[in-house]
Amino acid sequence: MATPGSASTAAAMAERIAVCPGSYDPVTNGHLDVIRRAAKVFDKVIVGVVDVQVRKSAPLFDASERKAFIEQAIAENGISNVEVRTFSNLLVDFARENGATAIVKGLRAISDFEYEFEMNQLNRTLAPDVESVYMLASGDYSFIRSTGVKEMATFGGDVSELVPAHVAEALAERARG
Ligand code: PNS
Repeated sequence: MATPGSASTAAAMAERIAVCPGSYDPVTNGHLDVIRRAAKVFDKVIVGVVDVQVRKSAPLFDASERKAFIEQAIAENGISNVEVRTFSNLLVDFARENGATAIVKGLRAISDFEYEFEMNQLNRTLAPDVESVYMLASGDYSFIRSTGVKEMATFGGDVSELVPAHVAEALAERARG
């Protein structure tokens, strides 16, 4: 049992920090749902915005724009224990640098599982001390994907139900050229 001053008390009192990593190109309401839920489970959540090209195509928004979109959304939602940072190193190193013991990711569909399963094995091999935690997308968000949102917006589709208002406006602006 933990007694005052014991190592287990210190561990129990330590801040529980998680990272929520992603490209967030751009952030969607689905991402924000996962970030909001992670912020309830952990003391502090660091949203990590990838600042290298991890996908075949170059991102539509640069990392500082993607970071600012998330910062505005979390401020508007009144979430106080979330910070947003960019990173360009290994995810597990970014997690350790930030004192995180967990990586939180959202899972929308079976199609996400295969990729995440592989990432889990790799990350676990590199950093067994950093646990990966998966949150199943809420029903309303299980079909939202940044790629689909960008495609719809490019062709003038209304994405206001899928992303925060300021992101919908930025997408419309890009579509207008
Ligand atoms: O699906 P996303 O949002 O584009 O995912 C981006 C990220 C970084 C979360 C994903 O690629 C991942 O889990 N990568 C782990 C491997 C790693 O550390 N890559 C270096 C990224 S800088």
